[in-house]
Amino acid sequence: YYIGVDLGTSAVKLLLMEESGKICNIVSKEYPLFFPHPGWSEQNPEDWFTQSVEGMKELTEGIDRSLVAGIGFGGQMHGLVTLDENDQVIRPAILWNDGRSQKETEYLNNEIGKDKLSAYTANIAFAGFTAPKILWMKKNEPDKFAKIAKIMLPKDYLAYRLSGSFCTDVSDASGMLLLDVKNRCWSEEMMEICDVKEEQLPKLYESWEVVGTLKPEVAEELGFSADVKVVAGAGDNAAAAVGTGTVGDGQCNISLGTSGTIFISSKNFGVDENNALHSFCHADGSYHLMGCMLSAASCNKWWAEEILQTKDFAAEQAPIQKLGENNVFFLPYLMGERSPHNNPDARGVFFGMSMDSTRADMTQAVLEGVAFGLRDSLEVARKLGIKIERTKICGGGAKSPLWKKIIANVMNLKVDVLEVEEGPSMGGAMLAAVGCGAYPDVETIGKKMAHVVDTVEPEEELVAKYEERYQKFRELYPALRPLF
Ligand code: XUL
Repeated sequence: YYIGVDLGTSAVKLLLMEESGKICNIVSKEYPLFFPHPGWSEQNPEDWFTQSVEGMKELTEGIDRSLVAGIGFGGQMHGLVTLDENDQVIRPAILWNDGRSQKETEYLNNEIGKDKLSAYTANIAFAGFTAPKILWMKKNEPDKFAKIAKIMLPKDYLAYRLSGSFCTDVSDASGMLLLDVKNRCWSEEMMEICDVKEEQLPKLYESWEVVGTLKPEVAEELGFSADVKVVAGAGDNAAAAVGTGTVGDGQCNISLGTSGTIFISSKNFGVDENNALHSFCHADGSYHLMGCMLSAASCNKWWAEEILQTKDFAAEQAPIQKLGENNVFFLPYLMGERSPHNNPDARGVFFGMSMDSTRADMTQAVLEGVAFGLRDSLEVARKLGIKIERTKICGGGAKSPLWKKIIANVMNLKVDVLEVEEGPSMGGAMLAAVGCGAYPDVETIGKKMAHVVDTVEPEEELVAKYEERYQKFRELYPALRPLF
């Protein structure tokens, strides 16, 4: 058996897979997310570890645990985890959707300069990236900064606690703004700019590589054999791409989780001129481009749970009829926005209501707003000459047939639906299977195991209607920008 651990923002999702790709069990364990100030977002690494261990116990209940061979990860990216010399967590992790480091982001982009950052790392600074957070900590928490012995990403904390190996993988490390993405190694220049030494950074691996085996005490607690291999794993988007078979050249995957991402795999290294898309290492040994919205399924969650006070998303979506004709717009910037606006101060907006607007129109606007936001990133890719006609889809939001239909028509893409929507945990388990030698490489397993079970086709008439709506949507952010 192989275990895939998807360390998400709302929960850790665990998947148990046989070597053949058969899924035996899926378990999810929640943990709290803290917003100590508007726009800040933190979690406790200890919660990740305890819930992952509990989750693994539950996941493997009733099976012969000695047959677990490997564990792999997909993890929320960019989060800053800091440990002191005694391996104690110094402060809560600062997450990917935390916007506190705006000043440091501006310093990096304007004073160091986007050209230099792009030359060193293939990317510019975004507030969610790890390097600006390190600079924030240096300036605002100098005592804590001085104690840093180890810097790692969220899933790397799990690997460290499970195996004792201080490691990361190149796909996740790409989002730190400390990695020379093209050459898949740490950037000397960025380490100097951020005042960190290489020994404070984890050892770099490819995503399928084995970083160690379980610590004996962990193996004992879980009832696993102590030679269970731990593989490096990947950032959740790269892991999801593996899980959905988005490997090889020019493949696309959309993930509708707390964040919303559009991921385009590429055999060759490439950067877009304005760095509006992230240029990162893929988990299959190649590269990818990616646009990331900070709030996707979390917009639905906010709208339904906080505002409408319901958890029944399906019931809210049931009365929605008039696709492409909704006069209400929603700008989904509840946590600011990353791609393509790079503005932590952007905020959510409803626009265009009239006396006859209904609750269903507003719910529809939320679903459409996220689709329009993803289209913004797709447009950047299209401008680069990348031709995309179809995409895979995964994440909790992919459960909604209506949302998939909206996405297919807003983006004018064929949307391929997979057997499982748990992309990152499936990808994590697949990486473990490659690391343990069951498959020769990531591309082979990705192509073999990801089964498309349905395709949502765009419809000409709806595409035309949404095209018109999108042209209006894209005017709204520039008009409102001075007011955020
Ligand atoms: C990607 C990003 C998010 C997180 C979510 O750049 O920030 O997709 O990885 O877990």
